[in-house]
Amino acid sequence: MAAKWTPDSWRKRPVDQMPDYPDADAVAAVEARLASFPPLVFAGEARRLTAKLAEVAAGRGFLLQGGDCAESFAEHKADNIRDFFRVFLQMAVVLTYAASQPVVKVGRIAGQFAKPRSTPSERIGEVELPSYRGDIINDIAFDEAGRVPDPVRMSMAYRQSAATLNLLRAFATGGFAGLDNVRQWMLSFVETSPQAARYQALADRILEALDFMRACGVDAESSYEIRTTDLYTSHEALLLGYEQALTRIDSISGDWYATSGHMLWVGDRTRQRDHGHVEFCRGIRNPIGVKIGPSITPDELMRLIDVLNPADEPGRLTLISRFGADRIEALLPPLVRAVSREGRSVVWSCDPMHGNTIKAATGFKTRPFDRILAEVDHFFSVHRAEGTHAGGLHVEMTGQNVTECTGGAREITEERLSDRYHTHCDPRLNAEQAIEMSFLVAENLRTERRVRNGGLAASA
Ligand code: PEP
Ligand code: CO
Repeated sequence: MAAKWTPDSWRKRPVDQMPDYPDADAVAAVEARLASFPPLVFAGEARRLTAKLAEVAAGRGFLLQGGDCAESFAEHKADNIRDFFRVFLQMAVVLTYAASQPVVKVGRIAGQFAKPRSTPSERIGEVELPSYRGDIINDIAFDEAGRVPDPVRMSMAYRQSAATLNLLRAFATGGFAGLDNVRQWMLSFVETSPQAARYQALADRILEALDFMRACGVDAESSYEIRTTDLYTSHEALLLGYEQALTRIDSISGDWYATSGHMLWVGDRTRQRDHGHVEFCRGIRNPIGVKIGPSITPDELMRLIDVLNPADEPGRLTLISRFGADRIEALLPPLVRAVSREGRSVVWSCDPMHGNTIKAATGFKTRPFDRILAEVDHFFSVHRAEGTHAGGLHVEMTGQNVTECTGGAREITEERLSDRYHTHCDPRLNAEQAIEMSFLVAENLRTERRVRNGGLAASA
């Protein structure tokens, strides 16, 4: 690996999954303007996230990462952001309670716009057009002009990210996220679901604990921790021109940080060690994720870790496995063993979505909820068997009442997918499914805690 890194050193490497803009001058002009715009996040915030992830890597916390597969310009509504935030808070509180450990909340939000695709073009009948690559690049409408990559969309994505982040910051610190609101986070359409009673019971226990704390003189008024929460942002570092334009030197540390989001990740299709995406990410000091799918070998993983985290800084690197429920038990253990053998510090996180995508008979891309849950369960059992910490969950989800993944307590069938199928890319968990999943993860975290405290044999 070349020793010298610069924000544009990726340009000398091969890059996959990047758009072919017809007008290079127009791209350069937009990127130059973006480079003059204010950062979206601060380096100090990214450093705080790294510190929290270091705790997760050490087995003293859990990473919850989630949000849309792809944010869209059309769906930029306050209600959508608020409802995502509510469900995310609910999931986090379920997990915190079970684990008795901090849950680090990282949204796939305020920048998750660019999408890698499995084919460069898409055909409907006789018409073949370039694939949709996310709103930051082209238009989802199957229309020749709309599918031409347009650099102005980068500015639009930047502005939308700023507005989304502004609202998230207000929600996080303005009182809404205070633990004394734990009951109010429940969305009305979830209230009749089987998960609701379970959540209400948990909320009651938390409120009781808060009553006790109040009697002791600690309440939301006096305690910042009870009154507020931290929500970090993340997205796939795919569109490198955009990322480069927002990469700045931090005046405090003198280091380079991507300021488009707190945490960036490299996708499974662009994680080649000597290619542009890895080159870009190795030089920024933000916490980095890497998606690892079935094609990665233990040897390749170790080399990738050497490139992305040569100093073995705890919290710097999160490995997000996405194998599919049928393959994780065979493919994950050799990787975990290789990392443990070399004594490298990583956060192990599970993306149970991308390895379990199927096409329903009705033509919709979907994910059976039982396969998603099965992959999560296997993830925990592999880590229990290896004596490592199952450190995180990475999900595509929404606060909306969509029908995109089959199954769940309301048993969404393939025939019902068309009822409310709104995603701009991959199928997401709806609010109910997301909460149901967090109860399953909570069970696993409780088991992990018992094992660690010596209450169970490691194989149990
Ligand atoms: C995604 O997270 O939306 C994605 C494309 O994932 P992966 O790189 O794991 O396929
Ligand atoms: Co996706």
